[in-house]
Amino acid sequence: MADITKHLLIVEDEAPLREVVAERLADAGYGVVQASNGEEALERLAEFAFDIIVTDLRLPGLDGGKVLEAAIARYPEIIVIVVTGYGTVKDAVEAIKRGAADFVTKPFQFDELLYALESALEQRRLKSENAYLRSQLERRYSFTGIIGRSRPMRDLFQLLETVSGTSSTILVTGETGTGKELVARAIHHNSPRRNGPFVALNCSAIPETLLEAELFGHVRGAFTGAVATRVGRFEAAHRGTLLLDEVGTMGGPLQMKLLRALQEREVERVGDSRPIKVDVRVIAATNSDMAKLVSEGRFREDLFYRLNVIPVVLPPLRDRREDIPLLVQHFLERFCREFAPPRPPMTVSQQAMRRLMAYAWPGNVRQLENALERAVALSPGRTQIEMADLPPDVQEMGPSPASAAFALPDGGIDLQAYVSNVERELIHQSLERSGGNKGRAAQLLNLKRTTLVEKLKRLDRE
Ligand SMILES: Nc1ncnc2c1ncn2[C@@H]1O[C@H](COP(=O)(O)OP(=O)(O)OP(=O)(O)O)[C@@H](O)[C@H]1O
Ligand SMILES: [Mg+2]
Repeated sequence: MADITKHLLIVEDEAPLREVVAERLADAGYGVVQASNGEEALERLAEFAFDIIVTDLRLPGLDGGKVLEAAIARYPEIIVIVVTGYGTVKDAVEAIKRGAADFVTKPFQFDELLYALESALEQRRLKSENAYLRSQLERRYSFTGIIGRSRPMRDLFQLLETVSGTSSTILVTGETGTGKELVARAIHHNSPRRNGPFVALNCSAIPETLLEAELFGHVRGAFTGAVATRVGRFEAAHRGTLLLDEVGTMGGPLQMKLLRALQEREVERVGDSRPIKVDVRVIAATNSDMAKLVSEGRFREDLFYRLNVIPVVLPPLRDRREDIPLLVQHFLERFCREFAPPRPPMTVSQQAMRRLMAYAWPGNVRQLENALERAVALSPGRTQIEMADLPPDVQEMGPSPASAAFALPDGGIDLQAYVSNVERELIHQSLERSGGNKGRAAQLLNLKRTTLVEKLKRLDRE
């Protein structure tokens, strides 16, 4: 994404100062071009789109303010750092108002300039990353409202695209809050049945004795309380899709009846033996380990195979942490929009984002969604969510993230990306703890300072 080198134009009439600074900037990895006055600076700017311009405000002839103006007019994305003389803070403030990113006052330490440059670049990177995330959200990284860009999610989107066109039975498994119902709805909405009904039934929410009537319907007088004939969920889903949620909790006798309905594509209402033809696609969902239920004899093996024609497995959120920033963005946009009255779009501080990405999320996407809804509600009048707005267990890191983070997911992982993420996180923490001092941060990591600087550059490019 980013250039390997940042191209910088330095405009300064004092040659010795300009040359020393240019040399040190080059050592720090910048591609540097020098200009000794404003006119020369404009010529260089006309030829080349620099990333950064560092300009003295007081120049003979065309002054630095004019250079600033011309640079921004030509390149709205350029970063301008102005250098001012001692006692001219007013000019610096004026320059910032006109679009400069920062200023340093003469005489300055080289590190001051470097710091100003790095923080301006960091800000620019975050800004473009946000814009990038937003554009990705709108394009590839979603499938009918399912957000994700991680390997397992991209594989999932491909699978969903394929299976949506068929009428095959699907078994969706995943921990609570991983999006099983969302996936079932997405399949329906992308299938040829999309104009038919989508009917959902949570099998664990209804007592077993009533579940049969709920599924298949009943005739008047079939049992106490059956005061009228009622259509079951199967019939209601005719020409559409039926989601049988928490199917693992269904008792033995009903499992038998469900199997028959799936095989024969017909149902019998309770109290009536006349079969009724139904054309229904069934999607079953469960957060139980179905194979285990089968091996323990608690779930019929034949029914399991009947349901598991196409298995769709949703990985827990902790195994796809790279999806977290996208999900955060997605939920924030929604909550801010839905807030009464609507709130301007919010962002999350980098510190809070790092914590969101490190937490284990036992309740998966639903828990993340709730945490953000709460954070939005707790931060009226602000545009940024901070660490303190996160739920206490997230702030305190809750259930052992380390061991969870080290469990190899069934689908495997991208080791390189994973290790870089860990590296990036620890480097961020070391810089945070050392207040940005790279020497101290390097000590905390038992690295040479130069090695840390190298790593930062590499991570920045990735
Ligand atoms: N990938 C995703 N992108 C956007 N929203 C998601 C995603 N996954 C889950 N959600 C949201 O998280 C919440 C929980 O999802 P859903 O109800 O589908 O989970 P579930 O797996 O059925 O959970 P449970 O097992 O508890 O029933 C919903 O509000 C859903 O919209
Ligand atoms: Mg559900």
